[in-house]
Amino acid sequence: MMMKIGNVKIKNRLFLAPLVDITDLQYRLICREYGAGMAYTEMLNIGSILNKSKKSEIMMKTSPKESPSGIQITGNSIDDFKKVGKFIDKFDIVDINCGCPSTRTIDNSSGSFLLKDPIKLGKMVSVLKDFGFNTTVKIRLGFEKNNVIKIVKEVEKFGVDAITVHARLSNESRNVKADWEWIKKVKNSVGVPVIGNGDIFNGKDVEKILDICDGAMIARGAIGDPAIFERILYYLKNGEELDFDLRKNINILLKYIKMEKMNDEFNHWVKRVSCCFLKGFSGSSKYRDRLMKCNNLNEIEKLVQNIKI
Ligand SMILES: Cc1cc2nc3c(=O)[nH]c(=O)nc-3n(C[C@H](O)[C@H](O)[C@H](O)COP(=O)(O)O)c2cc1C
Repeated sequence: MMMKIGNVKIKNRLFLAPLVDITDLQYRLICREYGAGMAYTEMLNIGSILNKSKKSEIMMKTSPKESPSGIQITGNSIDDFKKVGKFIDKFDIVDINCGCPSTRTIDNSSGSFLLKDPIKLGKMVSVLKDFGFNTTVKIRLGFEKNNVIKIVKEVEKFGVDAITVHARLSNESRNVKADWEWIKKVKNSVGVPVIGNGDIFNGKDVEKILDICDGAMIARGAIGDPAIFERILYYLKNGEELDFDLRKNINILLKYIKMEKMNDEFNHWVKRVSCCFLKGFSGSSKYRDRLMKCNNLNEIEKLVQNIKI
């Protein structure tokens, strides 16, 4: 099950996706505890790293407990990529976000906008490689039209160490099913490891995607459910899908809250992340409403401790 990206060993083929306002150090650690082999920070704009914005400083916290560690960055200028190296050198892997479709990111000519210019993207990869980073890219199939094969060949030429493919165009919503056929085509076009992403929610999905490529990256399925990785690993070993365990998930939420309590400050996203654990039981929406009104982690913890299911 082990895999390698550049010179980094990863204990299995399951990746927690980068997720804005979710994958801080604590969330990454809890997903790793339940089996994720690799995890990345949320997407960080290089400008905000260079300006030492408070949010990026928090999101860039890492720990020897997360090994190997990964940061995801995006930007629009090669010069910025040249400047950012020394700010991020504690991470084992650096991933370039070329998939974010948000207007703010695209207006800044970064995120999925980069898919329009494979040569520029290749140069960004080569700048990071010159720094000595294990470098990956997370791409979509294209911006408005599919040019994924051109993109992957270009980044491979510049030395990329692995490619994650979110199998949709930038302008396609989640209602459009991810097209895994294209992940297969990418895998057949390059020699570096390919990680598949999009609509992977259970053990069977992972089994199918690992038939096509080298790794499976999970985003929505892991929001409010770190144990998804444990269930998937169980499936890969035993061929049986375990049921989601609500009680266990509440206990994992309590662990996550305890970890967040070790921070000096109360990060605003913790409430929304915690709410994502509270789904699918009677009265859950009432608990979510109450949680959103909490003012600190002690209040959240008390509320969650008293949940009756
Ligand atoms: C709340 C949320 C935040 C996301 N943030 C990021 C991000 O920071 N960087 C990134 O590359 N993709 C981000 N994505 C996209 C996911 O990583 C992933 O590519 C996409 O959701 C498809 O995977 P899924 O079908 O497993 O959800 C985000 C998605 C969601 C739902």
